[in-house]
Amino acid sequence: MYQDTNSTDAALRQRARRVVPGGMTGHLNAAALPPGYPQFFQRGEGCRLWDADGQVYIDFMCAWGPNLLGYQHPEVQAAAQAQAALGDCLNGPTARFVELAEAVVDTFAHADWVMFQKNGTDATTVALMVARAATGRRKVLAAHGSYHGAAPWCTPVAHGTTAEDRAHLIRFRYNDVDSLAAAAAEAGPDLAAVLLSPFRHDLGIDQELATPAFAQAARRLCTEAGAALVLDEVRTGLRLHLAGSWEPLGIRPDLCAWSKAIANGHALASVTGTDALRDAAGRIFTTGSFWAGGVAMAAGLATLEVARRDGLVAHLERIGGLFRQGVAEQATGLGVAVRQSGPVQMPLILFDEDPAWEKGATFTAEALRCGVYLHHKHNMFLSLAHTEADIAVALRATEAGLRAVRQRFGAG
Ligand SMILES: Cc1ncc(COP(=O)(O)O)c(C=O)c1O
Repeated sequence: MYQDTNSTDAALRQRARRVVPGGMTGHLNAAALPPGYPQFFQRGEGCRLWDADGQVYIDFMCAWGPNLLGYQHPEVQAAAQAQAALGDCLNGPTARFVELAEAVVDTFAHADWVMFQKNGTDATTVALMVARAATGRRKVLAAHGSYHGAAPWCTPVAHGTTAEDRAHLIRFRYNDVDSLAAAAAEAGPDLAAVLLSPFRHDLGIDQELATPAFAQAARRLCTEAGAALVLDEVRTGLRLHLAGSWEPLGIRPDLCAWSKAIANGHALASVTGTDALRDAAGRIFTTGSFWAGGVAMAAGLATLEVARRDGLVAHLERIGGLFRQGVAEQATGLGVAVRQSGPVQMPLILFDEDPAWEKGATFTAEALRCGVYLHHKHNMFLSLAHTEADIAVALRATEAGLRAVRQRFGAG
């Protein structure tokens, strides 16, 4: 078992500490999770993960987003393996590059063109380069607490960066039209872009959908200022609406950054944009040794195809709704005050009077013992592979988790 010092996980952690700074860097470091969470995994299939010791979990993190259709989805894997047999990283892209570009432009409503990268940070960074190239301006407005990646301009931890890296970033409060306007006034004629996630999904606080008034204000402000409205779809992409997360609001961005789920776990990111920004996008120099690799593009093509054919978003909404309703009923029945916020397909469960997320940690640690991998303060993710039966099993674990919270902290 993971807590057992004789476990494979413990042995791997010990070996990693010798050869990797801190044993593991970044958001995947299990030290940031409640005790008992494994650091290492051996495989995933559908909505299940096996840790290094062979313990199996129903997974509600989906590799922090990339698992959209199920780990090892047969069609995605077949497409990736067929391309891998031919070649991945070559002197230039394969035909998959053009085929995927066509499919992306057909799928995302605002998109007239696409550029491919590997990680979400690549995509947000390139999107801002395009905005700056197009406008010849420097200032970017971004919401307080929003996460847009781990490059020096956006990493939430300042170690190893300079204040100058963020010198042209101006912050505002999400969903606050006045705050956005004040930030725009501060940028003045130097405003290049407004960078927004489609909804507020900051760590450890309730999620918040964008209000129509806020989305409209952001769109209007950018249009009037001749700046780019950039949506960071890295976390949300394909889960809320296949054509783009703000399509239901009727608001179209100028640029979008995508990654995580778009190739169902294969490394792929993209920036999409409108015709008005095409020239600027063609003028910047941006590249990466692996960005044109054919395998992830073959996987991306299969992912879009399956997502469309199998009614992905409707499925996520249905099972997400079942999960949310089940947890709400359990919490009410047990007299434990929980808050569930944001879209049901990206669940977040927080507890009242839990400033240090201790109730959340008790809840998720108990659920983990019951074979369900949740997160105590980050939004979770559902996939096409989660079935009603999986949700029913998961709800047995959440019930045990809620009982543990009541036992340790009392009702309320
Ligand atoms: C909204 C958002 N933008 C950007 C990123 C950065 O993506 P990556 O970690 O692939 O660089 C993330 C990653 O979690 C994200 O959630």
